[in-house]
Amino acid sequence: MNRNIILVGFMGTGKTAVGNLLASRLGMEFLDMDQVIVDRQGKPVSRIFSEDGEAYFRALERDLVRELSRSSGLVIGAGGGIVLDPDNIEDFSREGLVVCLRARPEAILKRLDGDTTRPLLADGDKLGKIRSIINTRSALYDEIPLQIDTTELSIDQVADRILEFYNGNNA
Ligand code: S3P
Repeated sequence: MNRNIILVGFMGTGKTAVGNLLASRLGMEFLDMDQVIVDRQGKPVSRIFSEDGEAYFRALERDLVRELSRSSGLVIGAGGGIVLDPDNIEDFSREGLVVCLRARPEAILKRLDGDTTRPLLADGDKLGKIRSIINTRSALYDEIPLQIDTTELSIDQVADRILEFYNGNNA
């Protein structure tokens, strides 16, 4: 069975777009972790944060990582904060290929223009928030060996790079 591909990275780095394309090219299923959590909780991420708290959301993410780490044949789009618990990356890396997508804050701002689904970027100076959260997390993202900066790349180009790596290392 094919090993999982797990796309990690800050919001707006292309995890969902690239993940969908990769999955269709590989004939694998794309699974968006946020979407699974939203479906199971029956409310959007913004409401989980405001009603139950961020710690509760992180615990749901942690449980889902444990569950998905036992599966195969999936392309998984992880939430941007998955790196906050290094055990998540360790679990995913055991059997799967973990890829970290990066992008410049200005590109992220453009891609998330008009988005209202991300509680950590709600209200106020969005670019400032993007910069400051990336700053606090960048050492954690840096830990992932395979890194792709998507700022200047098309979705196809990012998928090509991941496939090269996946096919070359999937024997
Ligand atoms: C978050 C990223 C979001 C979502 C939640 C928190 C983060 O996922 O999990 O809003 O902490 O970076 P995406 O990266 O899929 O937008």
